[in-house]
Amino acid sequence: MERYHIIGNKSLEGEHQLKGAKNAVLPILAATILTGSTSVIENCPDLSDDRTMVAILKEMGCKVTWENGSIIVDSSTLDDYVIPQKHMKEIRSSVFLMGPTLARCGKVSLSYPGGCAIGERPIDIHLYALRLLGVEIKEKDGLLDCSVDRLIGTDIHLPFPSVGATENAMMAAIMAEGETTIYNPAKEPEIVDLQNYLNSCGAEVYGAGSDEIVIKGKRELRDTIYKVIPDRIEGGTFLAAAAATGGSIQLRNAIPAHMSFVINKLREAGCQIIVEKDMVYLKAPDKLKAVKPIETSPYPGFPTDMQSQFMALMTCADGYTLITENIFENRFKHVKELIKMGADIQIEGNTAIVKGVEKLKGAHVKAMDLRGGASLVIAGLAAEGTTIVENICHIDRGYDKFELALSKLGANIKRI
Ligand code: UD1
Repeated sequence: MERYHIIGNKSLEGEHQLKGAKNAVLPILAATILTGSTSVIENCPDLSDDRTMVAILKEMGCKVTWENGSIIVDSSTLDDYVIPQKHMKEIRSSVFLMGPTLARCGKVSLSYPGGCAIGERPIDIHLYALRLLGVEIKEKDGLLDCSVDRLIGTDIHLPFPSVGATENAMMAAIMAEGETTIYNPAKEPEIVDLQNYLNSCGAEVYGAGSDEIVIKGKRELRDTIYKVIPDRIEGGTFLAAAAATGGSIQLRNAIPAHMSFVINKLREAGCQIIVEKDMVYLKAPDKLKAVKPIETSPYPGFPTDMQSQFMALMTCADGYTLITENIFENRFKHVKELIKMGADIQIEGNTAIVKGVEKLKGAHVKAMDLRGGASLVIAGLAAEGTTIVENICHIDRGYDKFELALSKLGANIKRI
């Protein structure tokens, strides 16, 4: 098992170029199945989640190559509708294959998906949306057998703006007869990116990012070359790391508007931030200030994927910060580990009360999930002494060569 060895208390300084967004690449890779032709997806980070999705596509018969940051998928050779069970357990995003496989093959077999252990993560909303489009779903012993003769466009009112369910419904509706409208969809930038990818293949999808998404079904799809958006969560993580270490950073290849909530909170914490078209510059204050209560919520609210990294930052701020997790019911596993490093955090229900301490101290800690793992790295970089972060396979799911990028900024971090 690999681990990080971090010697902390060193300011991060310099420039970091953002890679493509994990949460955009994964659904887009799944959507390549719809086209029956070749998609060149540019700006793909090298993440273990991406590698797993590529492995699944290959096992289903697609030809996939990976060249200089681009993943090239030829889905004309797709010859299977069974999503391999071992991969379903490895990544949550395997569930995105439901919609496109149904649309292409009329059936799909799969087991329940795995992914980060941050909550129960049911897929009932995905299934609800697919059923409305005409899909019959049989469930036995944790396996789902789904089939449909003809997908029929319809109105879908999502009970909650689930990111994955919105994407699955969009992808299935692409091949449906007639028009589908998704009401109360998720509005994350990655949903807009999926729409833009689909439209670049000849689909007609409108309204992603707003309160309604309209999909005109049954369009012939074609080859495309598509560049995914930069990763706003990677961006927020690097800003938090620079801020926690009292450093300064220039994020390049950023879309600052996608990070507004996090940028505003960093400003509130006393960071000086300059935003340009595709650049964010941050300079940390001598001492961070606690911020007004944070509540995670669907986009454009404060992202749940930045909750743990921001908490690591607030452990050394002046004052108390209340952080409420509203999206996932089990996303405070990093708290116990941060406490081992000297943080003062109490949990009441789904709220963490973080009282800033003078300094964290290095400790032996364990990543329990992807973003929680990143928060421990941030804490280790800011702490006095040595921090060992175990279980970094979780971090590899979402950050491309994390330790190399941090080392370039002056961090003393090694993979062992
Ligand atoms: C996506 C992101 C993940 C992010 C999350 C919320 C990807 C690959 N992952 O995950 O990084 O943390 O959005 O921004 O894009 N829910 C149900 N039933 C369902 C679906 C969801 O109850 O059928 C619940 C979930 O348990 C959770 C909440 O809705 O409590 C949000 O989940 P959802 O938006 O679907 O997140 P994911 O698509 O899994």
